[in-house]
Amino acid sequence: MSRKTLLYGMVGGDRNAFIGGVHRVAIHFEGTAFLAAGCFNPDPAANKECGEFYQLENDRIYADYKEMAEKESKRADKIDFVTIATPNFLHYEVAKKFLECGIHVLCEKPLCFEVNQAEELKKIAEERGLFFAVNYSYSGNAMVKEARELVENGTIGEVINVNAEYLQEWLIDDIGAGDQTMNKLSVWRKDPKVAGISNCVGDIGTHIEHTVSYITGLKVKRVAAVLDHFGQPLDLNANILVEFNNGAHGVFCSSQVCVGHMNGLVVRIFGTKGAIEWVQENPNILYVTLKGQPTKVYNRGMAYVTERTASVSRIPSGHPEGLYEAFANIYRVFINVILKKINGEPLTKYDYDFPSVDDGITGVRFVHAAVESSNRDGAWVKLEDVD
Ligand SMILES: NC(=O)c1ccc[n+]([C@@H]2O[C@H](COP(=O)([O-])OP(=O)(O)OC[C@H]3O[C@@H](n4cnc5c(N)ncnc54)[C@H](O)[C@@H]3O)[C@@H](O)[C@H]2O)c1
Repeated sequence: MSRKTLLYGMVGGDRNAFIGGVHRVAIHFEGTAFLAAGCFNPDPAANKECGEFYQLENDRIYADYKEMAEKESKRADKIDFVTIATPNFLHYEVAKKFLECGIHVLCEKPLCFEVNQAEELKKIAEERGLFFAVNYSYSGNAMVKEARELVENGTIGEVINVNAEYLQEWLIDDIGAGDQTMNKLSVWRKDPKVAGISNCVGDIGTHIEHTVSYITGLKVKRVAAVLDHFGQPLDLNANILVEFNNGAHGVFCSSQVCVGHMNGLVVRIFGTKGAIEWVQENPNILYVTLKGQPTKVYNRGMAYVTERTASVSRIPSGHPEGLYEAFANIYRVFINVILKKINGEPLTKYDYDFPSVDDGITGVRFVHAAVESSNRDGAWVKLEDVD
């Protein structure tokens, strides 16, 4: 009999964490995968309390992720995939362990610290025939998919320029005098041992890079970057000139010190025949302007969007879909492809429409190139492997 549902485990994502809860809710949108095991917190007591709250069986609440991977892999009812929602420094070792134990992986971004680590993870996944997703979540938004379809079908012509930004304000207190005014979550992002060689580019610049690449199908070939640290160990502000593999140029600005901005991811793609603009904080609409014509506002859920976009809309237009649905759309594809593989069903192009380990590798290369460029006074630095 064919399998209809999966079991999954989670590493990270305790009750106080930011993103783990978004993953769990998003997975439940589909009703096709259920939490069966976890290691949520490095403190054993807090971990146990959390696992009990999530109603896991006692022997599937693990104090250590290595023990979890090993014991789960030996169970008849083992978890099929693991979600990794820990701070960045753990991604590589946790992902490697679960892959080696034969378990599919969905890992948070940025994938890991070093390019060779990212490539090693890809190699292990390929050798074992495992799926590996890296959670560049904005590519799950319906209107981001509509933008991709419009570029792919030539509506805006050849892409000649990109202007994209991801602006936040939450670290402004770190560089200014006076009162502490911001709510601060996850300050580990400022610590190089936990976050890696970059804070701002790694955390949100990589979202720009992936969202633009997903929509346009272009790859960033080289970057000229200036990163501002304002006396902190890692960058809080980045202005990056990029060159794509079709010769077009663009500007990516990411910042955590832009007062008045929260999760201001805005992507503007300019082509020879028109332009599109998507704004993450108003994600159900897409602005499309054809040369010489007034700007059209496309709404998610309407009859005129492409079949692909319609297929990932969950509720009628006018009821907002957002971050949770974007995550759920990634999980829908990821869970489905695992089920199809288990059931021996043939795979099609859309079965791979989730951000992959290759996207994760590109993200790590992008971070390294931006940091190196900034260290060399904004010199152009090539991303290896992009021609
Ligand atoms: N895709 C997105 O849109 C998005 C958004 C936010 C965060 N993220 C990524 O998600 C990851 C987590 O970020 P966050 O903001 O949720 O962090 P967080 O600090 O809120 O949560 C981290 C979790 O990891 C757990 N943890 C730490 N060490 C552990 C260990 N040794 N074993 C088991 N669990 C451990 C903590 O207990 C906590 O539950 C980061 O890599 C971040 O870049 C992605």
